[in-house]
Amino acid sequence: MLREKDIPVWEAARVYLDVRSNDEHTLFSYYWAKQLLDFYPDADEDVVLPAILLHDTGWKKIPIEKVLESFGPNMKYPELRRQHEVEGVAIAREKLTELGYNEHHINQICDIIDGHDTTKEARSLNDSLLKDSDKLWRFTRHGNETVQSWFDISLTEVHKILRNQLPGFLTEEGKLLAVQMLEVAELKESLTKYIPHVSSER
Ligand SMILES: [Fe+2]
Ligand SMILES: [Fe+2]
Repeated sequence: MLREKDIPVWEAARVYLDVRSNDEHTLFSYYWAKQLLDFYPDADEDVVLPAILLHDTGWKKIPIEKVLESFGPNMKYPELRRQHEVEGVAIAREKLTELGYNEHHINQICDIIDGHDTTKEARSLNDSLLKDSDKLWRFTRHGNETVQSWFDISLTEVHKILRNQLPGFLTEEGKLLAVQMLEVAELKESLTKYIPHVSSER
């Protein structure tokens, strides 16, 4: 799944991603970034893919007990969302320099890590793909269940939260994929509406 040339970036990022399953989130978002890149040949996969691998490394620098209170329904420290971007840019710059990336390339990657959560608009095509891939993970079964366990809410509540996030998608394709995943997840939760006794046996 990972491109050969992204493996050293992943290895460098992974040490910073063992916070609230950010490592797992990152791999799913990388998958979605690859899917979206197929629709946008003008985007630069050598910017978007390394950026996705490094975008959330900054959470490692935030006190662990405050991470889940930096976003979502129990948000107490919104300023830490900005801080994880700034820390992530510093980590990305250091690691990419060590890996021999040139200054121009590093700047392009860091430009979209910076502000990936705290800006909402499309600042460039590469930025749109990073932001949509980041969000698409939440719509996967893995994302649904992770959000559910973080905030101790029902799957139905998770789906309601996600439905409200649909207008935030920046690409048509990203939005369509999100809608499809959400509707499939909602269908699974509402099978009993049509089949009174849904068996757990297959
Ligand atoms: Fe983030
Ligand atoms: Fe993320």
